[in-house]
Amino acid sequence: MRILVTGGAGYIGSVLVPTLLERDHDVTVLDTFSRGTTELASCCRFETFRPVRGDARDERLLDNLVPRADAIIPLAAMVGAPLCDADPLAARSINRDAVIAIAKRAQKSQILIYPTTNSGYGIGEPDIPCTEETPLRPISLYGRTKMDAEKVVIHHGGTSLRLATVFGMSPRMRIDLLVNDFTWRALTDHALVVFEGHFKRNYIHIRDVVGGFEHVLNNYNEMQGKAYNLGLSTANLSKLELCAEIKKHVPGFVYWEAPIGEDQDKRNYIVSNAKLERTGWRARWSLSEGLKELIRGYKMLRNSRYANI
Ligand SMILES: NC(=O)c1ccc[n+]([C@@H]2O[C@H](COP(=O)([O-])OP(=O)(O)OC[C@H]3O[C@@H](n4cnc5c(N)ncnc54)[C@H](O)[C@@H]3O)[C@@H](O)[C@H]2O)c1
Repeated sequence: MRILVTGGAGYIGSVLVPTLLERDHDVTVLDTFSRGTTELASCCRFETFRPVRGDARDERLLDNLVPRADAIIPLAAMVGAPLCDADPLAARSINRDAVIAIAKRAQKSQILIYPTTNSGYGIGEPDIPCTEETPLRPISLYGRTKMDAEKVVIHHGGTSLRLATVFGMSPRMRIDLLVNDFTWRALTDHALVVFEGHFKRNYIHIRDVVGGFEHVLNNYNEMQGKAYNLGLSTANLSKLELCAEIKKHVPGFVYWEAPIGEDQDKRNYIVSNAKLERTGWRARWSLSEGLKELIRGYKMLRNSRYANI
């Protein structure tokens, strides 16, 4: 297939794009490449890889690129509530309007797979898992722009994957994601103060997210026009439970709870991934395997721009 991935140089894209190329797909990546780094270096050996430096909001580029694709995966976004609050105009135009612009140009015969966040479930009921029928109540601008775009994608006949919080190593690493962040702090500071420690979330390994996209590509006829939660069913954990899991791998890790902050999206929910699992998708990566991967990966990272060590 010819696949267009916007934002393909990001945390998810830089694992997804090489995988798609290895499966013999032609992949065009439209990204600003604003970091100017080498996340997709391993892709350049493929003749079938086409990087396009540009803005996912540029309608002239979309006029040119969308009709050539058999499948479109719009990843380009301002990701996370703090980033969106720092630049609300960019958040609306990239997270919502650029996705609407793609949906407008896409034919029904083209595959459209969109990742959104399951943080839109917000404050859930204790012990009652959120399903795709649970009302969405996104609070932050990030959550609202992602849900607005999802509505358009579903109305168009595309598929939306409501991702749990992603963890694992990527060529474009993000240590601001909860599991990645806590593990980083456990290894570097050996200590962590947790707020809202009993708030529960669902998690998913980055390679299982890639597996989710591939699963939709392979089963699009049955899955189009629908939303699916994509998370690890064995990992609906509170932040304190997550710390306990990390401590199993980092024994010296000390953590305690204090009211030092608040989650803007009030994320406290457990999620059912049964609808996606009924279509045959299975998570392959456990939380424990992901933690071991992060511990190996973090041996190579340094966050010391203003220090000698
Ligand atoms: N990582 C998660 O836990 C998670 C969870 C749920 C949903 N998602 C969704 O998955 C997608 C990818 O997330 P990520 O974690 O890889 O984020 P990321 O920030 O690592 O990557 C985003 C990419 O988009 C590019 N980009 C941003 N604005 C652009 C523009 N105007 N034009 C072209 N490219 C642009 C960036 O250069 C970057 O390469 C996003 O849509 C996000 O909302 C991610």
